[in-house]
Amino acid sequence: MTLIKIQTPDDWHLHFRDGDMLNETVPATARCFKRAIVMPNLVPPVTNAKMVEEYRQRILDARPDNSDFEPLMTLYLTNETTCEDIVKAKQVGTVAAKLYPAGATTNSDAAVKELDALFPIFDEMQKQGMLLLIHGEVTDNHIDIFDREKEFIARNLTRIVAAFPGLKIVFEHITTKDAVDFVVAANENVAATITPQHLLLNRNDLLVGGIRPHNYCLPVLKRNIHQKALREIVATGNKKFFLGTDSAPHEKDQKESACGCAGCYSAWSAIELYTHVFDELGALDKLEGFASHYGADFYGLPRNEGTITLVKEDWTIPEQIILPNGKPIVPFFAGQNCTWKLIE
Ligand code: NCD
Ligand code: ZN
Repeated sequence: MTLIKIQTPDDWHLHFRDGDMLNETVPATARCFKRAIVMPNLVPPVTNAKMVEEYRQRILDARPDNSDFEPLMTLYLTNETTCEDIVKAKQVGTVAAKLYPAGATTNSDAAVKELDALFPIFDEMQKQGMLLLIHGEVTDNHIDIFDREKEFIARNLTRIVAAFPGLKIVFEHITTKDAVDFVVAANENVAATITPQHLLLNRNDLLVGGIRPHNYCLPVLKRNIHQKALREIVATGNKKFFLGTDSAPHEKDQKESACGCAGCYSAWSAIELYTHVFDELGALDKLEGFASHYGADFYGLPRNEGTITLVKEDWTIPEQIILPNGKPIVPFFAGQNCTWKLIE
């Protein structure tokens, strides 16, 4: 029996949603992760300290009995966000604020339309020691969807990093070689999260042999040279790159639609699929750093005390899961083989 034991990991980017759905998503993540950075893109979005505290309580209430899972809360930035909002959010323990360019992704309509108007807010965040988490895509109609991350780096990220060298910035769910190169070259306050889908798949897995809506997420899967760059960087054990599943549930009929939602629900298989990838890369010795050390270190939080163990054993990811509202959801990698299994 081949086993791997690592310090208990954290998920540095995910979507729990709200209401009933929390009874599905929170236990799915709490089964193996001690903490998670919870995205604020609810409807309406989580834009102030009061909403942060209320949302945190709803998540805590959805934890399984005896779970010591800890949600790490984030604030949703808009052009109405004030410095006072940042100060108050920080006082209630909010660790980061999320920048969505308006229209970039699911539930981002209320987000940032005028990036430059937010610079005083970034300044306050730098003072408060609050991290800035960025969905790095431009949204202009004329920019090709496959170029939107690269264009965001050139147009926006470079100058944000230059203007706020003391602000810790996480470039979320990166998908391109351009992003890898940017983060490697940037100062030590810039890091990135990487999802299982962007390590496992490229755009052929979205479009060849029929359109596969369950592989559709944003930023969209890119060509294989980009997938290769992501795989190569995690295999080196570079501390600037760490685990963020971007687990983002949408009901089956919202994905299998003429206008399907973006997001892959990976919580029930994410740690297993990352292990599967690191094994394929011959880099299992780098898994623990990626999953359990580098994120905590970057956020300035202690590493977790416990451990989890995975066994090398084939299993098939379920074709569907029934949500608390009775509706089905198709999990990421449904029906496919995973070569590692968590021992619970
Ligand atoms: C996320 C969602 O569904 O909330 N979707 C996705 O494709 N990743 C939003 C996001 O992280 O962009
Ligand atoms: Zn996300």
